[in-house]
Amino acid sequence: AATAAEMAPAVSGEDGKPFVEEMRAVAMRLHTKDQANEGEKEPEAPPVSMWEPSVEGYLRFLVDSKVVFQMLEAIVDRAVVPWYAEFSNTGLERSEQLKKDLEWFRLQGHIIPEPSAPGTTYASYLEELAEKDPQAFICHFYNVYFAHTAGGRMIGKKVSEKILNKEELEFYKWEGNVSQLLQNVRNKLNQVASSWSRGEKDHCLEETEKSFKYSGDLLRHIFT
Ligand code: HEM
Repeated sequence: AATAAEMAPAVSGEDGKPFVEEMRAVAMRLHTKDQANEGEKEPEAPPVSMWEPSVEGYLRFLVDSKVVFQMLEAIVDRAVVPWYAEFSNTGLERSEQLKKDLEWFRLQGHIIPEPSAPGTTYASYLEELAEKDPQAFICHFYNVYFAHTAGGRMIGKKVSEKILNKEELEFYKWEGNVSQLLQNVRNKLNQVASSWSRGEKDHCLEETEKSFKYSGDLLRHIFT
């Protein structure tokens, strides 16, 4: 059965816009023009179509991504802030899938690297935010999960075509309908944010740039 949050219509702010639309608008503007139609920034890295990925670099990205998703999942499960629990078991979790993918690479004879600075630094930062700055933490939670279902999936497809013989990793497979899973999380985000002040909302939105910076550092493993 659907929970109250899933059935609730989008809760809108004073300007009539559901908060997730504000989060999305800020995120879209931070894309480069070659990444997404709504992007506004000039590219400083090669476009995904030009990447020449290696298995080694991609493995570093997957290992670091696992560290980040494990931390996000531990934080919402532990729920230091009680309403974090709303974001536990959304169906968007990725750490188990990444664990399976890394095991698949290992069985293919690849050495799985240890986590490196981009992943461990981001995970520590998330741990710290989760305790002292819930609005900023939620910004990262939104951006990491939603980026992965959008650009992340596109990147996965390109990398797979170039170096994995089109093998589709578990990282890019969701149980059930991913659009519905995303919509459920959007509803919960709107509901939680409906009790935030305008200042808290702005603070959450302002964290988006940092989210792009940290995720960008992880993505850099693939194309350098
Ligand atoms: C959405 C591409 C990196 C956050 C999207 C979309 C594309 C895209 C094509 C869909 C736009 C649409 O709905 O029409 C890319 C590419 C990236 C990248 C190619 C890097 C090479 C990032 C990063 C973040 C991010 C680093 C933040 C950490 C988002 C968010 C959405 C989005 C929040 C909205 C998803 C939704 O509304 O469901 N991206 N992106 N993206 N991206 Fe990215």
